[in-house]
This record gives sequence, C-alpha cells and structure tokens, in this order.
Amino acid sequence: MKVDELVIGGGPGGTPAAMALASAGRRVVLVEKGAGLGGTCLFEGCIPSKILRESASRLQAVRRAQEFGLHVPAGEIGVDWNAIMKRKAAILNGRADGALQRAHQISGLSVQFGSAALLGPRRARIAPRDGAPEDVEFGSAIIATGSVPNLLPVPGVDLPQVLTSEQMLEIDRVPRRLVVIGAGPIGVEMAQIFATFGSVVTVLEAGPRILAPVDEEIAFALQNHIGRQGIDLKLGAQVAGIARDGDGVRVQFRDAAGAQREAQADCVLEATGRRPNVDGLGLEHTAVRHDHHGVKVDARLETDEPGIYAVGDVVGHPMFAHWATAQALALAGHLLGRQVRFPAPATNTAVIFSAPEVGIAGLTESEARAAGHRVGVARYDYRTDARAQVSGHAEGMLKLVYDEASRAVLGVHILAEGAASLLGEGALAVGSGIPLEALAAAIHPHPTLSEAIGAAAREAAASD
Ligand code: NAI
Repeated sequence: MKVDELVIGGGPGGTPAAMALASAGRRVVLVEKGAGLGGTCLFEGCIPSKILRESASRLQAVRRAQEFGLHVPAGEIGVDWNAIMKRKAAILNGRADGALQRAHQISGLSVQFGSAALLGPRRARIAPRDGAPEDVEFGSAIIATGSVPNLLPVPGVDLPQVLTSEQMLEIDRVPRRLVVIGAGPIGVEMAQIFATFGSVVTVLEAGPRILAPVDEEIAFALQNHIGRQGIDLKLGAQVAGIARDGDGVRVQFRDAAGAQREAQADCVLEATGRRPNVDGLGLEHTAVRHDHHGVKVDARLETDEPGIYAVGDVVGHPMFAHWATAQALALAGHLLGRQVRFPAPATNTAVIFSAPEVGIAGLTESEARAAGHRVGVARYDYRTDARAQVSGHAEGMLKLVYDEASRAVLGVHILAEGAASLLGEGALAVGSGIPLEALAAAIHPHPTLSEAIGAAAREAAASD
C-alpha cells in the first residue's frame, strides 16, 4: 500500500490530523490500536472522568437541596454505580461510533484497527487486529500515540488493589477507603469525585502543594476546599511501598517531618504523571529521537527524521486533548502547504474539574515575570458575586495577569464552579493578545460569572 500520510494513533491528535488531510484530498491511513477512535481522552481520561464527576456534582446538589428550599425525603440518597457505569459506556460508545462514521464519510481516509510500527524512514508495517500484516509506504507520518500512566518504582505497585486512572474509571464499586498518590489534575479530580460518592480519601503528595503548575493563590484556595470536604491531604509525603493487608493494602510513606507512616485502603489510585507512549513503534529504525519526556520535535513538530512528525502527549508536556488537537490541525495545515501558526505554550488553556473548577488561560503571574514582562495583576472575589451567591457557590477568585507596558492580557486564572465554561473569553484574550481595556469595555451580561472578567479589568485599567 502507498499513502501520502500515515497517522499512528486515533486520539484527539491523530484523528483530526488524518481527517483534515484526507478532507483536503490526501490519501491517508489512520491506524488505531484501541477499541475505537477517541484515544485516552474518550476512553480513559477526560470524558469518562467528567461523566463520573457529573453524577458526583448532582449528588452533591441533591444533598444541599434543603438550602434551596427543596424537600428531599430523609435518608441516604442512593448511588446506583452500575447505572452510572452504563451511562458512561453509552456516551463513550456513541462518541466513538460518531467519530468512525465521520471518518468513513471522508474518501481517501482509511481507518485500520491494529498496530503500526515503522520499518524505516518511509515504510511501516500495519498489523491489523484481524487479518495479515501489510507494509505501507508513506510520504510523511504523524506519530500521535499519546501517553501511558507512570508507575512508581516502589514495592507493591503491581498489587491488584493498585489502580491506574484508567482502571479507576472502570472500578465496579465505590471503594470504602481510597488512597490517592499524587495531587496533580488526575489525583485531585478523582479524590474529590470519590469523596463525594462516600469514599474515605487520603491523598499523598510528594510536593509542598497540590497542582504544582497552577497559580499559587488558586492552588492554596483549592487546597482549603479539599480539606473542608474531609479529604486527608498529606503534603511532602514520600511513598516507600505498598503492602497487602487482608483484602486491602497499607501504603507506607514518610511524612513531611520524616516520620514513617501508613495509610490503609481498599484500593490505591496511582496518579503520579504520564509518560510518552513510544513502545513498539520501531523508532529505532529511523532517526527519530526520544527520551522519557517525549519524542523530540522542532517548532513545526517535525522529528529528527525528515517527514516524520509527532503531536500530542507523545511529544511531552503539556498533555491536554485540546493542545493535541491544536497541534494536529496546525500540522495538517502546514503539510497542506498553508501558512499556519503553530500553537504556543504561552497561550495554552487548561481546566481542572476539581470542586470548584480551575480554569487557566495563558501565563501565571510567576511565569509572566520569568518571561520578562512588567506584570500587573487584577483580582475579583467570587464570594461577593451575585451569580455565585444565587447558585450556592459563593467561593473562589479570578485573576487577570497583564503586561503593564503593552496592556496585553497574558493570563486568566479562575477558581469557581463554572470556571470551565467561563474560560473561552480568557482563551480568546490571551490567544489574540487582547488589551486589558478591551475586556474592561466589553459589556458582560448580568448576573453571570463572566462579569468578574469585566470588573477585574476595569479595576486594573482605572488604577494604572
Ligand atoms: P501530574 O504530573 O500532573 O501530577 C502528578 C503529581 O504526583 C505531582 O503533583 C507530583 O508531585 C506527585 N508525585 C510524583 N511522585 C510522587 C510520589 N512518589 N509520591 C507522591 N506524589 C508524587 O500527573 P497526573 O495528575 O497523573 O496527570 C497526568 C497528565 O494528564 C498531566 O500532564 C495532566 O496535565 C494531564 N491531565 C489533565 C487534566 C485536566 O487538565 N483536567 C486531567 C487529567 C490529566
């Protein structure tokens, strides 16, 4: 077989790249090892975790019904875990089917379920799930194979009670006691979700605070919420090993003061980061270089092997579905000979579906200073916000980070229930270098959480 482009990996990086190239008339083969198109995001990450979180938020809302003048019959509100898992499966399957149908409508795009390995700079072998292997010659290739969970190098990590986030999302019941190792986005989201469902949760984090890359003020404020939710957050905790304890386990760790401690659990979630997935790709038959951070690429996402590119988690941090898609679409445009702007980390966005949510667009205050900007910061306190009070979530804050000289908005950081949906304006502001004064002049609707952006911008504009 001969194609213009071989795309390896059908997640939020590979799928849009393959679709964009084939839609423009290229002959493309997209090879996916998993059950369908969607990757980690759809099957093991963003979407299933949001489905569990949605049920958890609704459970929390029912528990608070009385505050809103609603009468819910006394007694424990039931959680039908099987029904939640069924709903999850239905959404996932529906989305995977939809993606495959869209792919099938594009002539020139062949989707093959199986694995691909490079044999050389222009050749690969595709081993389909059923059928005989076939060699393919390609003009260029895109590696979009994503990432896999990191496993701690400590004894006991291979015990059946120790789960990756992917396994945790498939768990057949709510564990009574859960230990989460790592307070990054995965650890924080899952700790809060399972605590809401009733698990007694301990989080062991090696660092001095949660969510290391997030704005400090916001991370500290969220840390307080986590504590108030009854989650036992232990910072500066070094996990030494995990041992069997009846049907459960004991996690042995050294606490921040250096004392040997133990935490008992029915299961443990390992959430200490992800590593690029390059296993079995045959990179050794090419000049592609990689290390534990990811496949090495230049500013146009080309590897050291001319004609072989890489996008998404396999390139390393940041590891986000939307970042992979942004890279993929820029790369597809570039391969089609169009003038494109490759996405810049300084304008990336992130949402952590904690409670309350964290939304990030662009640079933090300290990143902006490190990049040499004369930094101004404007704040808004959601405790006094009309909409936040109405919705029963009068908590959180918003921070605008801007350049005092150019007036460009460099960062928007939000801690609020609803931050995720609010971040679009921040993405536009930092992505297009919109000045603070333009945000101040925009008429934000009342009563909504978006008013905070206008209010913070006006305050900063008036004080400078
Ligand atoms: P992470 O690398 O973001 O965080 C891992 C945490 O584990 C860090 O705080 C680290 O200090 C801690 N840690 C490392 N070794 C430890 C040890 N031995 N004992 C205790 N703590 C230890 O990784 P995470 O949360 O697993 O996420 C993986 C990737 O997926 C990240 O790149 C993240 O950005 C992305 N992701 C993003 C989400 C979002 O934006 N909503 C959700 C889930 C994942």
